[in-house]
Amino acid sequence: MEKQRLDKIIASTGKWSRKDVKLLIKQGRVLVNGVPAGSGDEKCDPSEAIIAVDGEDIGYRKVTWLMMNKPVGYLSATEDGRGETVLDLLPQELQRQNLFPVGRLDKDTEGLLLLTNDGVLAHKLLSPKYHIDKVYYTRVQGQLEEADCRAFREGIVLGDGLHCMPAELEILSVGEVSEAHVTLREGKFHQVKRMLASRGKPVRYLRRIKMGKMTLDPDLLPGKYRFLSEDEVEKLRE
Ligand code: URA
Repeated sequence: MEKQRLDKIIASTGKWSRKDVKLLIKQGRVLVNGVPAGSGDEKCDPSEAIIAVDGEDIGYRKVTWLMMNKPVGYLSATEDGRGETVLDLLPQELQRQNLFPVGRLDKDTEGLLLLTNDGVLAHKLLSPKYHIDKVYYTRVQGQLEEADCRAFREGIVLGDGLHCMPAELEILSVGEVSEAHVTLREGKFHQVKRMLASRGKPVRYLRRIKMGKMTLDPDLLPGKYRFLSEDEVEKLRE
């Protein structure tokens, strides 16, 4: 791997800002191959050097995986002239890592969004071949009923002739506004909204809560993110 600045490598773990790193180095708390680092602009190959802070390996990863609770009002894109993207919610050191969102959520949809720079695994997760279930919590206008669940199970055909794969609609509450969980195995444009609109129940609120085995962390407020653990990335690989 190419040599990189030490401060950049340490900050890329997301555990410390560049400012923190500067201080850690000054305090002699950073060792590179057992030798105290002199300054942040020293260069080394992060895949070979053993870099430790306070005696603990920094846990450098070649690829980065983040879980974000996407807030309403942000686009799930890497850049867009029309508005802020989810990347704008990340600190500078992560913005420089070529991260991209794994799949899309509408601007007005909240919830689980994975971000990574691991193109190969991201591609697999998105491929219809692997049928990764995506679960959404929704509030719709109108009273959901068993006939809606049946229509989802049988596969809805949208107004433009698009055939949706069989999906699951689990009603959570019924009223003027009803609540439900929707499970899809594909991700067509505005799919949940279009499926429910075709049943005369327009979506008023939508949040993705699950993707495959990955569940939205309940501690993440909208707009917040965290790194996936190695176990979680392993689960995605499975
Ligand atoms: N379905 C939608 O309609 N919107 C989303 O953001 C995701 C799924």
